Amino acid sequence: MSNQQDFNWIFDRDYCGRILQGEFSNELKKRVAESILLFRNFNVNVNPSMPYISAWREDADKAIWYEFAGNRLLYLLGCQSCEVAEIFRDSVLQRCSYQYGSAGGKIKKRILEHKDLSCIQDELRNEGKTKGTVEAVYKISLPNRPAIWLKDQASVESFPVDHICLSFGSLTDVTMEMQAEEQHQLEEQALRSLHAELELKIEKQNKELWKMQLEMIYRLAQAAQLRDKCTGMHITKMSHYCDILSEAAGLSDEERLLLFHATSMHDVGKLGIAEAILQKPGKLSGQEFEIMKTHSIIGAKLLSGNDSPLLKMAKAIALTHHESWDGTGYPHGLEHEEIPISGRIAAICDVFDALTSARPYKKAWQPEEAFAEVERSMGTKFDPELAALFLEKKSNIEEIQQRFATEVVSGHA
Ligand SMILES: [Fe+2]
Ligand SMILES: [Fe+2]
Repeated sequence: MSNQQDFNWIFDRDYCGRILQGEFSNELKKRVAESILLFRNFNVNVNPSMPYISAWREDADKAIWYEFAGNRLLYLLGCQSCEVAEIFRDSVLQRCSYQYGSAGGKIKKRILEHKDLSCIQDELRNEGKTKGTVEAVYKISLPNRPAIWLKDQASVESFPVDHICLSFGSLTDVTMEMQAEEQHQLEEQALRSLHAELELKIEKQNKELWKMQLEMIYRLAQAAQLRDKCTGMHITKMSHYCDILSEAAGLSDEERLLLFHATSMHDVGKLGIAEAILQKPGKLSGQEFEIMKTHSIIGAKLLSGNDSPLLKMAKAIALTHHESWDGTGYPHGLEHEEIPISGRIAAICDVFDALTSARPYKKAWQPEEAFAEVERSMGTKFDPELAALFLEKKSNIEEIQQRFATEVVSGHA
């Protein structure tokens, strides 16, 4: 194999002859000739893969061609070996490559569309040359037939003297496998959209449920207030005071929102108290006060049996907003952290608003007097830390108190 004449026997339909007939080194020609012999032998065996040798110039020309293409590949593409490069250039729809992501975890798939391939050709050639191998799957569209997928596995060799790179590869039809992958992806996508649709639906339903719960509790609270002849402003002010205090106490946004609404139900148990007691203009007798105290248990019963966080908190507040830090409150004489924080917060805000509101039997206290009362009750009636935070927020509390200042009403807070 010392000169060009020695290679004449090798020319056939599968070989274009560009290197063996060209001005290249004997080393390159020998490598090509030997490989063609090997590949032809490979090709006649039962192996279903389609061997090829492609070549590209590394000089300014950058031309690429298929030096050899096995008969199976030529039959599949319906062309001569000298036409393979052009057919590939025109008919490749997609190039997919796979690699393990960092830390050997997930397999990453890189997809290049037809329009990207010409721009990225140099990068792909350099990658093949550096790694010494190429592995990719091509989606190919041939005239009058469905798209097929060919898996390409090649080793790349560089011949610097000739400025040529050779890619010794084989193509395997993996259409069925890739169709299965596409199908799987479509199914996953459909599942994802179904999931997103369901989440939206659930979110919408949750919003409606939340609205319904709010409407229900505010109507109930309103009913309780009507009997109590208590102004709606008591509930509004309490909600805002509770919000200020719960923020100062570091409660989460979600807990604050629940507390804001749940506190409106603190006296819903008054629905079960006789009107004669609720609307008594003067001070309650001992027995009447005992009956009045049952409004916390009645309220908790009214609000029990529901798992929603809003109603659970509303129940806790209704039951414990008259408990005292030192254990002298009612209905259960709980003390310290036995009283849920929602109840401890509501207790301070309820008393403060009762003191600063006018009643038929008393004038409205000035805020300063009411703050002083909160201070005096630190550690006895009220959680001392929460009461201190309440006092720290005086200006915010007063701002709410003035914003919602309202008419004189009757009733016992
Ligand atoms: Fe109460
Ligand atoms: Fe109240």
